[in-house]
Amino acid sequence: MPQFVSLTIKEVIQETPSAVSLVFKIPDELKSDFHFVPGQFITLKATINGEDVRRAYSLSSSPYDNDIKVSVKKIADGTFSIYANENLKTGDVLQVMMPEGKFKLNPQPAKNLNYMAFAAGSGITPIMSMIKTVLNEEKDSKFVLIYGNKSSVETMFFKELLQLQSQYPNRLFLEFIYSRENAEEALFGRIDKSTVNFALKNKFKDISFNDFFLCGPEAMINTVKEVLSENEIPDEAIHFELFTTSTDTEKPSNTGKATIAVIVDDEETTVEADKSKTILDSVLNADLDVPYSCKGGVCCSCICRVVEGDANMPVNNLLTDDEVKEGLVLACQAYAVSDSLKIDFDDA
Ligand SMILES: Cc1cc2nc3c(=O)[nH]c(=O)nc-3n(C[C@H](O)[C@H](O)[C@H](O)COP(=O)(O)OP(=O)(O)OC[C@H]3O[C@@H](n4cnc5c(N)ncnc54)[C@H](O)[C@@H]3O)c2cc1C
Ligand code: FES
Repeated sequence: MPQFVSLTIKEVIQETPSAVSLVFKIPDELKSDFHFVPGQFITLKATINGEDVRRAYSLSSSPYDNDIKVSVKKIADGTFSIYANENLKTGDVLQVMMPEGKFKLNPQPAKNLNYMAFAAGSGITPIMSMIKTVLNEEKDSKFVLIYGNKSSVETMFFKELLQLQSQYPNRLFLEFIYSRENAEEALFGRIDKSTVNFALKNKFKDISFNDFFLCGPEAMINTVKEVLSENEIPDEAIHFELFTTSTDTEKPSNTGKATIAVIVDDEETTVEADKSKTILDSVLNADLDVPYSCKGGVCCSCICRVVEGDANMPVNNLLTDDEVKEGLVLACQAYAVSDSLKIDFDDA
């Protein structure tokens, strides 16, 4: 199970007026723990105004880079993103959880594959890692990126992407789209149905794509998924990562108390839970150190297995039907239904 370790910030890079990259040097003895697949994320933990705050950030570096890098975009009134952009500096130490996540592009060096990605704003971070890795490791594969931002100035990795494109003119294809700038080399507007159809049926119609990667606001992801399906792209070829969701966590109607036996790090502890609270909240209330990151049902960090009793998840944007049938739940979205329950974080 991934754990937190202390890592020192080696460099802070101002990527755009509202985004910084944090570069961490990984000590040799932790290199294997921090090995990752492009698309995965780490969780950063810091004490801000006396409170422990943890947030997930996709790795924007590539596994073959020496250091690891995340890139944080400032969100209005955001706790961690403002702290990262305005306070963090070289030499600061943060608690960093080892890489995890199911949004992955496993490079296959022997194959000749084609990928299309749709990213908006900070959604570029996992895609950036994928692009660099594919260009470096799959020598014949092609990558098309459709990338939406307010303007070129607000576009993270703008220069790096153009540089990669000039290095790999026949393998990397970039299509920028700006919502607040009219530029000759870019489309105007947001990524919508017409953008997806233009990419698939017009601009890149001669390329047959193996996999599609989507990362950005929920509305963009839903639109792109829908149009890809309309174009007969199978579900298995569409991969997406949500950074946040607008879906409100529905409170279940069950009330009363439950006893939950929690297995984590090979130890079993029993906690008293309120059935109207999420299992994660009950477990954290009892001061148990279980894995979690987003608390919003989008990162999968809190996944655990219900081994006895019943729990339900009124909202589930992440687990497949098979995983749910197998007894897996996201502790931050799940509620105890039966009066007693056993959950296992080690076997999930
Ligand atoms: C798997 C995963 C990977 C992620 N990778 C990145 C990344 O590479 N770069 C990056 O910048 N962020 C990334 N995020 C989002 C990040 O974890 C934080 O949610 C984000 O930085 C905001 O945190 P905050 O503490 O500043 O805002 P909070 O204090 O948590 O929230 C402030 C307000 O902003 C809203 N909000 C929260 N997150 C977002 C968002 N992403 N977009 C719009 N509104 C939001 C909240 O609903 C709230 O109203 C990722 C999230 C997940 C789950
Ligand atoms: S903590 Fe992210 S899904 Fe539960």
